[in-house]
Formats: sequence, C-alpha cells, structure tokens
Amino acid sequence: MTILSGAPWLLAHRSMLKSNKPRKVSLYGNDYVLWQDSNGKISGLPNACPHVGAMLSEGWCVTKVDGSSPVACPFHALEFDSAGCTVLPSSSKPTKSLMHPLELIIQGDFIWSYGEYEPKTSIPTIMNEIAAEYEFIGLTGERQIKTDFLTLLLNMHDYNHRNGTHRQLFEIEEVQLKQFIDDGFHSHAYVAQLRKKPTLRDILKNPGLLAMPQVLEAHLENFFPFMGMVHGKSPLLSLKECHFYIPESATHSRLYVLMFMKAHARISHLIKRNLLRLIDVVIEQDADILGKLYANTPQHIKLNNEVGMDWVRRNFESFPMVIGPNLSR
Ligand code: FES
Ligand SMILES: [Fe+2]
Repeated sequence: MTILSGAPWLLAHRSMLKSNKPRKVSLYGNDYVLWQDSNGKISGLPNACPHVGAMLSEGWCVTKVDGSSPVACPFHALEFDSAGCTVLPSSSKPTKSLMHPLELIIQGDFIWSYGEYEPKTSIPTIMNEIAAEYEFIGLTGERQIKTDFLTLLLNMHDYNHRNGTHRQLFEIEEVQLKQFIDDGFHSHAYVAQLRKKPTLRDILKNPGLLAMPQVLEAHLENFFPFMGMVHGKSPLLSLKECHFYIPESATHSRLYVLMFMKAHARISHLIKRNLLRLIDVVIEQDADILGKLYANTPQHIKLNNEVGMDWVRRNFESFPMVIGPNLSR
C-alpha cells in the first residue's frame, strides 16, 4: 500500500508514549514499535522480532544505568536497542543491526515520520507554533477505523454531515459554507451552522439552551493529507482542535485529536475534561457512520458545500503535485 507516499504523518504525540512502555503504530500496512526511554529519547523499530516474529510492542523496556532502555521481546526476552542490535545470550557483544529502524522526525512533543519513503511534502510549522503558545490539554477521540484512507478523509472534510451523523449532539438544521480558500494542499473553510430553534418545551427542560448561540461559526484549516484543525474562540477560551489521520493499511485508518487551549478566564480550566469528552463523542459518531457505509459507491447526488470533499479528491489524485488550486469561493 503506497497511497500518498512521501507525505508526513504525525504518528504520535509524546504524551501517547508512557515512559518505557512500548506501543504499536501502523503505517502503510507495516507495524512498528515506538517507545520512549527514561531520558525522553524516542525510538522506533519494525514490530516483528527478527528471531521468530513476536510483536515487540507486547514486550517491555529494560532500563539501563545510563537511562537508555532497549525493548525486550515478550517471547524469548531478547533486548533490542534503538538501532535494532541485540546481545545474544552466548555473547557479550551486541550484534550488528538486525532491523531497519523507523526514521522519526521529532519536533518537541510531535513525532513525525514518512515511513520508509522519501519526503515529497514538508512538515508544517503550525504544530510547533501552537505548542509554544497554547496549553496542551490532552489526547482524545483515538480510534482505529475499518475504512480506507480516502473514505476517512472525505468524511473529515464533509461539511454537511453534522446534521446527520452528529444530529443529536449539535441539533444543526442547516450548514452554510461562507468561504473556502484553496491553497493547494492547505485550505481554510469558514462555516456557519444554524441550530434548530429550541421549542419552549426544550428550554424548560434545559434552560442552558438559551445560552447556546443560534449559529455556530467554525473556522476549519486543513493540511492535506494528515491533519484538519478547528479553530475555536469564545469569551472563555481559544481552542485548537487538531485532528490527525494515519493510513494504517489499505483497509484501516487511525484518527486522533490533540487539543490545545488558551484560557481567557479562570473557570475555563474547569471545562477541559468535558471538552475532551465531547470530542470523543463526536469521533465515536464519525467512526460509527464510517462502519455503516458502502465505500466506493459511485456518487450520484451532489450537495452544496461539498467543496471540502472535492478538495480532498483532487489532492488525493494529484499528490504530490497540486494541479492548479481552483476551488476557492
Ligand atoms: S521471538 Fe523475539 S526473542 Fe524470540
Ligand atoms: Fe464528523
């Protein structure tokens, strides 16, 4: 599987790697083990042990006096360092490397990789800028979804599905795309979402509804193919909700959300956990609908506001070249 090869992928945020706890990640049909030692050094190797193939991610880490920690195989406990070398029981010297380490590009807490491919597009600086200015409030919505990558991307850039997939959550009746700025593999969408007018009965049941704006404005910024970001602003806080997408294999895709916040009031901190939970519910609904559709059904109906999906399709076909950005409106 080599779709979109040469694109960078954010395999993990540092917070997803507990110290000395190996974790499996998949990219393009290959499995890898990632781990972080006590010094904060992050390493990646193919997940199949070169002895007889046990999953290294099911093993453990062995902390050495210098703080480094090789990963130990759960089958026969051979220990592999970050270069893929081990010391065999009958020997005192490390072997030559037995595995090709996964190349990682680590920028602060962000762990990027191109897998085994030559880079064709660059890693944006935006995550470093956000991390410098905003407080990281957590990871949420992590799901492995049984869907091909294009179908996942189409869902994530579909501005109409809020009134279907997320109907009960937001009670949105109409979505208006106010502006779309097509800048090749980078785009902005400004969307106004009109919520259902609450009835008197709804208000009596839930007076909080009166405090909810009738129109939810959203600014979405997209980085093809690996990230979509929601910029949120309210009197209480500014929010950066960063959705990351990973093509695990031809049939499975991974999705997770990193949330960053700048509080404008002290009480904003109280809602962090609720925010993470809310986004988790949103992603659960997306995962649910993706499991209930016939992917690759020819599309015979076109709705308004599908420009985000058009943008995905065009870029998907032309990657790594952008053919004339022409979708701005
Ligand atoms: S399979 Fe890994 S040590 Fe034997
Ligand atoms: Fe969604």
